[in-house]
Amino acid sequence: MVILCKALAAQALGLTFTITLAWMSPVLFHGAWRLALIQGAVAALWSTVLRQRYWWVPIHLLFLPMAIAMLTLQLSSWRYLTVVLLLALVFWGTVKGDVPLFLSSSAVADAVAAIVEQENAHAFADLGAGVGSVAVPLAQRRAVRVDAWERAPLPWLIAASRCRKLPNAWVKRASLWDCHLAGYDAVFAFLSPAVMAELGEKVGREMRPGSLFISSSFPIPGWEPESIVQIEDRRSTKLFCYRV
Ligand SMILES: C[S@@+](CC[C@H](N)C(=O)[O-])C[C@H]1O[C@@H](n2cnc3c(N)ncnc32)[C@H](O)[C@@H]1O
Repeated sequence: MVILCKALAAQALGLTFTITLAWMSPVLFHGAWRLALIQGAVAALWSTVLRQRYWWVPIHLLFLPMAIAMLTLQLSSWRYLTVVLLLALVFWGTVKGDVPLFLSSSAVADAVAAIVEQENAHAFADLGAGVGSVAVPLAQRRAVRVDAWERAPLPWLIAASRCRKLPNAWVKRASLWDCHLAGYDAVFAFLSPAVMAELGEKVGREMRPGSLFISSSFPIPGWEPESIVQIEDRRSTKLFCYRV
């Protein structure tokens, strides 16, 4: 809720500034496009002042210019509704602070499968599984029980349908914070730096001694990884492996 209020405040401050500018100097500041770009820049600036996460900057910059561009296309209203619904189903909890959907590469999925095999793990959890980019290939290749936790409806539906013929995979539509980690030999997460400290506490509290926690891209602050696996993919992903 705080995140949403900050986003609305940044947009409103951008609008107020732009309207004032246009009112004070209608000759210099005229034209919908020019005003929309100024509004976007001011809203983006306010979002940084209000300490919103960095991905809000392009959202604020582009919001009004994109709205004007869409209006010029004169699309029928059901198309907008469809797009809004699809975005809501994919980025379900993002306004409340959940991590948005980014997909792991197939190279990451291969590396996680290799680690799970090396660990001789019998039970594996993917926290925030997205569309199952890591969980599905793992369940297809290895005789390991794979539990995938995903809260956003559309990614969950896609992951669940990809797993429907895999007897060793189970996709739960629930918050990863409700997943009790004690039953897993290996746990994987690809989330964001913002949640890593809290997730580290959960891992330390719940995972069994000797089990393995793998975090894609984001280390747990203050923890020493047992190993770091460098992946040759577009993002040069690093897998931080922590022995509990
Ligand atoms: C960066 S994506 C990673 C997706 C997938 N694990 C992969 O590697 O391709 C993060 C995912 O976590 C999900 N997520 C974020 N917060 C969550 C929560 N509290 N409970 C369950 N899923 C969550 C998001 O919906 C998103 O699909």
